[in-house]
Amino acid sequence: MKDIVFATNNEHKLAELRQIMGQMFHVLSLADIGCHEDIPENEPTIEGNARAKAQYVVEHYGYDCFSDDTGLEIDALGGEPGVHSARYGGVAHDSERNIDKVLRLMDGMPMEQRTAHFRTAICLMMDGDTHLFEGRVDGHILTERHGKGGFGYDSIFRPCEGDGRTFAQMTGEEKNAISHRGRAVARLVAYLLKR
Ligand code: IMP
Repeated sequence: MKDIVFATNNEHKLAELRQIMGQMFHVLSLADIGCHEDIPENEPTIEGNARAKAQYVVEHYGYDCFSDDTGLEIDALGGEPGVHSARYGGVAHDSERNIDKVLRLMDGMPMEQRTAHFRTAICLMMDGDTHLFEGRVDGHILTERHGKGGFGYDSIFRPCEGDGRTFAQMTGEEKNAISHRGRAVARLVAYLLKR
């Protein structure tokens, strides 16, 4: 089976991708290839960051690779937090602070002004070629947290498709079926199956 690196150490994402692609590829994490350094993610777009991560692995480790980058884009905040989603509250990967900041900035806004979407970009670098895949889900930012599942901004994001629950109130399968990442991954897998 062909090796492919998924440029992440996020166990949730790895498990998800191994479940979907495990029959086709031996999916390796960054730790699996001995990459323990922080890969720079300083590009101004999620597409740029996805590409930078994949390129780093190809150049430094010589594996075929794909990487993902996700942003929550809130219309009333001019598309923020966007590429800054992971550290919007000032501390990297502190989801509670990130959510607090979003709720504070949107305090008092009516629901019709609380539209937002998640966007995931996946960059695949394989056999010398580069491909980009995108996935998007539209929804609303609620005024308070609902649900304990998921991660990141899931507890304040209610997708338009669905029955009124937030991502944090859904099972993993329910979320993956309509989510930004689920859709981008489906496009990646469709491409890999066709090649
Ligand atoms: P990453 O590019 O996947 O690391 O995502 C950047 C940030 O966006 C994360 O730190 C989370 O705060 C947020 N994020 C990414 N994916 C999701 C998701 O599926 N639900 C909620 N928040 C997410």
